[in-house]
Parts: sequence; structure tokens; C-alpha cells
Amino acid sequence: DWTPEHFVDGAVAALQQTIGPDDQVILGLSGGVDSSVAALLLHRAIGPRLHGIFVNNGLLRKEEFESVLHSYQGLGLNVTGVDASEEFYAALRGLTDPEHKRKAIGRTFIEVFDREAHKVEGAKWLAQGTIYPDVIESVSVKGPAVTIKSHHNVGGLPERMHLKVVEPLRMLFKDEVREVGDTLGLPHNILHRHPFPGPGLGIRILGDITPEKVRLLQEADAIFIDALHRTGLYDKVWQAGTILLPIQSVGVMGDERTYEQVVALRAVTSVDGMTADWAHLPYEFLADVSNRIINQVRGINRVVYDISSKPPATIEWE
Ligand code: XMP
Repeated sequence: DWTPEHFVDGAVAALQQTIGPDDQVILGLSGGVDSSVAALLLHRAIGPRLHGIFVNNGLLRKEEFESVLHSYQGLGLNVTGVDASEEFYAALRGLTDPEHKRKAIGRTFIEVFDREAHKVEGAKWLAQGTIYPDVIESVSVKGPAVTIKSHHNVGGLPERMHLKVVEPLRMLFKDEVREVGDTLGLPHNILHRHPFPGPGLGIRILGDITPEKVRLLQEADAIFIDALHRTGLYDKVWQAGTILLPIQSVGVMGDERTYEQVVALRAVTSVDGMTADWAHLPYEFLADVSNRIINQVRGINRVVYDISSKPPATIEWE
């Protein structure tokens, strides 16, 4: 019978067998469930010989980098936080095409990660939080199927650094990963976090990206996500986020005419992200979030709600 406890015991024993007594292991942490569970499992097996690297790409949610890093440290993980925001902004400057932005973000991530990984002496292994659905997906991507969106990972890095790859969650489905994480003491805020794309706010700012736009979107997004938590709706939707549109619209404040940015709120219900329905959030809730954003975020004067389902729309706008 599969139980998370049995899985942990078996995986820890196998990792201790496979990884040599002096080998150091590197793992990219993202704040997501999979990489976090992989980290806890490896930490249980080899302690501080697991070196976690958590990169701030400047495209995370408001205060996410600090709070997630704090959670990791609280769990006793050996993790280095690297703030590379400026490098990412520089790589993104002037880019507007979604795929170009994804490529620039992916490339910069590999550069930053590679540089940090080289600082770890005796590094022999690259650990990854790959889970079973990722294994299936990467097989199909290699086949004749077309990639609709290029999902970035640390592709090419193991070869470049002569690292062997270890993927302790390869045989698990998402719900099993959560059970294992729970057994290992992963806190609720990470265990039940919505999926968040690797390129982050980089694909939720339509058009070109500037640090000012990132800050504007982070403020609006934090209001939306906080409201979902406060009303108990967070766990009822599969994913939620805010999109900064590349247009301005006319508004009025006092007796002044304004001409400012528009944000779209997106929330969906889904099982696996392959199909999704727009979440039928209560009107009162939407009204409250809209008022808060327009009143509190200088520079935004209009909020709209995305009522498109997937297919034919996608969850993200880019
Ligand atoms: P779409 O927009 O294709 O999104 O309906 C499905 C799920 O995938 C996430 N997504 C990404 N995740 N890199 C990622 O790591 C990406 O480039 C990317 N694009 C979309 C999206 O947030 C949703 O959960």
C-alpha cells in the first residue's frame, strides 16, 4: 500500500545509497510545491549537503521572495537566495513578444543559476522536482506534437556542469507530492499555493516590462490574492492572478480627468490546468477588490474580470 510515510522512508534510503558520502547536491527552489518537497526529502537524506538556490527574477509576487526564503530557512534548509532582478530586467528591456520574453527569462535564469551552482565545491548532482505528469509531458514534447508554449527549466545545465540528475518525485502525481510534503512538515502556505508560471509576472505584463510596471502589478495582485485568502475563496479556485494591460483608459477622480492603466483579474477552476473554467466569483467580492485596487494603487483607474474559459482561451494571457 502506498503511504507518504513509506514513500519517504524508501526514498530517503535510496537517496543515501545513490548519493556518495561526500557528494554535494544542488537544487533550484521556486517556492512551488514540487521543488520544495524535493528539497525537504533530500534534506532528510543528506542534510546540509543539499544546496538550495532560490533566484529572485524580479517577476515574483509582492514580497514573495522574502517570505518564501524565510519559510525555507525556518525549515532548516541550506538555501541561498539570489536577487538577480536587475539582470532579468536588463535581459527583458524592449522585448514585447511573449515567446521572446520567455526565452530571455529562461536564458537569464540558467546564467544566474549556473553561476551560483559553480560556487558549490564538490557539486556532483543536480536535483529536480520533476513529477510524473512532467515526465509524460516532456516525452510528448519531444515527439511530433507542437509546443504551444515553451516552458522553461534548467535544460542543458546538467551537461554543461557535468552533473548527474536526481529526481526523487519522478513517480508521483501532484496529490501524492502534497501528501509527502505534509508528512515532511511543509507549511500550509507552500503546500496549497496556486500554480505560478516560471516566467512569473513577465507574462502577466502584456508588452514590454519595466520595474515600474512590475511594482504596479504587484500592488494590484497582492490586493486580489489577499482578498481571496480573507474570504476563504483562495482554496476554492485553482489559480488566480492579475494582468496588466498595455492600454490606458479615461477615468475621473474628484473633478480631474485621469488617463491610467487597466488591470484584468483572472481566476479559474481546473483539475490539471489543461482545461479550465473562469471562476464564478461573487459580484460583491469582485466589487470590493475593484474598489480597493482603484483607490489604493495610484496609476490604475479600471479593473475588468476575465470570463473566458480554456479552451479556446488559455489561463495566462501570453
Ligand atoms: P495556459 O496559459 O497555457 O497555462 O493555459 C496552463 C498552466 O501553465 C502555466 N504556464 C507556465 N508555467 N512556464 C511555466 O512554468 C510558462 O512559460 C508557462 N506558461 C503557462 C500557467 O500559469 C497555468 O498554470
